[in-house]
Amino acid sequence: MTRSTAAAAKLVAKMTIQEKASLTSGATFWTTKAVERVGVPSMMLTDGPHGLRKQRANFDHLGIGDSVPATCFPPAVGLGSSWDVDLAHRVGAALGVESAIENVAVILGPGVNIKRSPLCGRNFEYFSEDPIASGVMGAALVGGAQSVGVGTSVKHFAANNQEHDRMRASSDIDPRPLREIYLRSFQRVVEDAQPATVMCSYNRINGVFASEDPFLLTRVLREEWGFTGFVVSDWGAVNDRVAAIAAGMDLEMPASGGRTDAQIVAAVRDGSLDESLVDASATRIAARALQAAAAPRVAGPLDVDAHHALAREAAGKSIVLLKNDDRVLPLQPSQRVAVIGAFATAPRYQGAGSSLISPTRLDNAFDELVARGGEQVRFAQGFTNDGSGDAAALRAEAVALAAGSDVAVVFAGLPAALESEGFDRDNIDLPVAQLELIDAVLEANPRTVVVLSNGGVVALPFAQRVPAIVEAWLLGQAGGGATADVLYGEVNPSGKLTETIPLRLEDSPAYLNFPGEQGHVRYGEGLFVGYRWYDARRIDVAFPFGHGLSYTDFSYGDASASLGADGDVTVRVAVTNTGERAGREVVQVYTGLVSASVQRPDRELKAFAVVELAPGQTREVELTVRRADLAYWHINADRWVVEGGDYTIEVAASSRDIRSMTTIRIEGDAVLLPLTRESSLGEVFAHPVAGPMLQGMMAPVLAAFGGAEADAMGGMDMQKMLSAFPIGRIGMLAGAAAGPEAIEQLLAAADAPQA
Ligand code: BGC
Repeated sequence: MTRSTAAAAKLVAKMTIQEKASLTSGATFWTTKAVERVGVPSMMLTDGPHGLRKQRANFDHLGIGDSVPATCFPPAVGLGSSWDVDLAHRVGAALGVESAIENVAVILGPGVNIKRSPLCGRNFEYFSEDPIASGVMGAALVGGAQSVGVGTSVKHFAANNQEHDRMRASSDIDPRPLREIYLRSFQRVVEDAQPATVMCSYNRINGVFASEDPFLLTRVLREEWGFTGFVVSDWGAVNDRVAAIAAGMDLEMPASGGRTDAQIVAAVRDGSLDESLVDASATRIAARALQAAAAPRVAGPLDVDAHHALAREAAGKSIVLLKNDDRVLPLQPSQRVAVIGAFATAPRYQGAGSSLISPTRLDNAFDELVARGGEQVRFAQGFTNDGSGDAAALRAEAVALAAGSDVAVVFAGLPAALESEGFDRDNIDLPVAQLELIDAVLEANPRTVVVLSNGGVVALPFAQRVPAIVEAWLLGQAGGGATADVLYGEVNPSGKLTETIPLRLEDSPAYLNFPGEQGHVRYGEGLFVGYRWYDARRIDVAFPFGHGLSYTDFSYGDASASLGADGDVTVRVAVTNTGERAGREVVQVYTGLVSASVQRPDRELKAFAVVELAPGQTREVELTVRRADLAYWHINADRWVVEGGDYTIEVAASSRDIRSMTTIRIEGDAVLLPLTRESSLGEVFAHPVAGPMLQGMMAPVLAAFGGAEADAMGGMDMQKMLSAFPIGRIGMLAGAAAGPEAIEQLLAAADAPQA
């Protein structure tokens, strides 16, 4: 028990039931209630996740009302693409400082939901289609913010992978994908970074609201993962307040006006709710409020310049160079550059909804490009985002400019109205006017670069024809400067994709099961999310998970893998910068188990690291694959199991660019399932106690079939042939020797504690 928990428990012990219940719902849209009589203060929680959204008035959770200016860092779609844990930690710390200056106790983020479908309207707020990438980056952000004494809220727990019908729909998921994909990112954050709070999602999981699911909020989160903070509801996610408290959902937000506090009091009084559960929730909330009050004050004003500079560094490291034929990039200051597209002057730098930040300032790419190229850099709008204006005239103007320039840079992307919290996209296409513009510009000038601004991936039908493509996501307030840094080569791009860019939406894993119907969305693709799917089905993609280029090149040596005493695997590989510029390479490690007894993806990301290299420099990179991350969820044992066998260890520049491969033998975990009458003979034969007993019982049968009959059956292995037979039904084969009593004895012997 921490000191603040012990102190909180003492205060809670002095409270009336009304006071305790009052702590478990908000005072206002963004604050909790104080219990002044015993000295528990109120605290403030606000959005998150990539900047502070502290509202001054007109409270809402949809990004409508005004908020105090704050640094808008790259949303997770960008920051995730940096794969840079240290950077995420520093951004987290900066978010913490901004929160502390504003007296905010908890910042609501990061979001570590898995990008199950490219259509999810909120993908811009999430890191990846992979749980390790999401979990590691999320943990780093949490660690950073909490290092300055500000709490975080990892969200949206759990399986909230779409916006459509998000407040009611049931995400129907089998146990393995639930554990191995959807919960794993949260598990990583909780176990590694112990966030102050976890925010439960709006949706149901397998029919049960996340806000009232004891399996999720108590068994998994607290008992298995050791979470010690409090669970807060997503804003308005509480359906049945008493059931929610019983499940471990501590704080209901926003305020219920005391209505649900009264329900809790009534339930305690009529005996339907155990008061100790209310005590536990009140204690967890009070503990955080006490901690927040005791945290060192951070005096303002905010160092706007320093945080803007960090936002620019983060944005630069978030940009992914998808393609760069003939080294069209970087631009040279001497070149005449046609900058085309509305996004160059009016950047799309964040997504809509509760994460909408009022930035402290805002760069635009065109001004930043002009700052380098001067009069050589000219602009044509090319298209409008709302479809207004004369499209043909705008296109003609852009084409003329491109024709008279050395290079054309088209800033294309998704209009803000197409992606937001609250709804999903219908398709992954760029607007037709932009696609037509790109084709026309390319015809006028083959040296065309496309720079993309988008929160969710888009189809790139021009990918084969356009020589250079820069995926610039939504990059936060300094994205314009960072984009210019990359285009002119002052920053060497190093981001890589944390989600696959498919050729067609129809190829994507959830295509036939998204967004569900009649209140249910079936996660029919199971474990095969993102690259796991495209690899298993051998589907071509536009750009694979993990892909990203640099202005330099890297070569990899032979990887080695060794087993540590703790069971973790250390992977080492030498990486060399073979080009002429300093650069950063994201090294990835994937594992697989060809001999697996259960279905497993070909390869799964288990570790990654960023290495910075001067031209010609070689460094050995060391990465750790945790033994726990090799486990799969055993549905019968109802726990994680590492299966023994030879694991492939692939060291890669992307999921489809494996540079070196080795294998390592891993000893498996023992799995001894209790035997029942349903157990198969194969399972019983394998049991250390029951196996030999069964051999004895079956000896006459096996002997009888082992003679002439075996020959008649082509030398069939009888033991193997019978292995699927349930032991409870072998009487007809083994006769009296395996009668019901004998079988009960055998099962009892198997069940008895072993010496
Ligand atoms: C969002 C959360 C957010 C909350 C408060 C909800 O609508 O789903 O992510 O933190 O509002 O604004």
